[in-house]
Amino acid sequence: MRPSTLITPIPPGLHVGIIMDGNGRWAVARGLPRPAGHRRGAETVRAIVEAAPDLGVRTLTLYAFSSDNWRRPEREVAALMRLFRAYLRGETRRLMRNGVKLSVIGRRDRLELPVTAAIEAAEAATAGGTTLHLRLAIDYSSRDALARAATAVSRDGGVAVTTDSLGVALGAAYGGGAAAPDVDLLIRTGGERRLSDFLLWECAYAELWFSDVMWPAFTAQDLGAAVSDFHSRERRFGGLVAQPVQAPAARAV
Ligand code: FPP
Repeated sequence: MRPSTLITPIPPGLHVGIIMDGNGRWAVARGLPRPAGHRRGAETVRAIVEAAPDLGVRTLTLYAFSSDNWRRPEREVAALMRLFRAYLRGETRRLMRNGVKLSVIGRRDRLELPVTAAIEAAEAATAGGTTLHLRLAIDYSSRDALARAATAVSRDGGVAVTTDSLGVALGAAYGGGAAAPDVDLLIRTGGERRLSDFLLWECAYAELWFSDVMWPAFTAQDLGAAVSDFHSRERRFGGLVAQPVQAPAARAV
């Protein structure tokens, strides 16, 4: 884990995860090449990051590139990598101004050097952010993260494999903070209704919200509607009495 991820604890609040789906369809429907949808999707990222804190979101994890996305045409992958780099470089100052701490979770060993360099620079520059923890999932596979965490714990003879030790190892295995934080609300745009190997462990008790809106067209109002619906739900965590919608006290951010 990088030291920068350890510096600033983010105050407790909602953890929202988003599967940002529909960029390609949004572009194709307008006669545009798919990367144009991704570029427009990056603008949505900015809008959602800026709207999140006022909605009580303190941790926001965005699924930017799954480990299975390497199967896409080389040109699209290259365009996405350029976009990530441009976002990280171009957005860092704005993130700092807005008190956003940025972390990237996922494998780094398959990313090209300019991308990992941009990640490290953005993480170091924003490490002091206290308003929002923005976690971008790049080359991310939840099952791979779990396998790595389980391997790490089982190699450590002194540590029993428990939900706690595995949660801590999961945070360490893929970066982004200490223990893997539970997701309160999982949003998927683009009309599909599946998890696609995203935060499987962390979503154990997540409330799910599926939107037919394509990611480039998703707005702060849409996020507000999802959060508002979340607040209307009764969370029982397997018990009988409704729990407050804020993260339970035992849960660290
Ligand atoms: C899924 O839509 C989206 C992706 C694979 C990429 C997500 C990337 C962005 C939103 C770009 C900007 C991100 C950052 C962090 C700057 P899809 O292309 O699979 O859409 P489709 O299902 O309509 O084909």
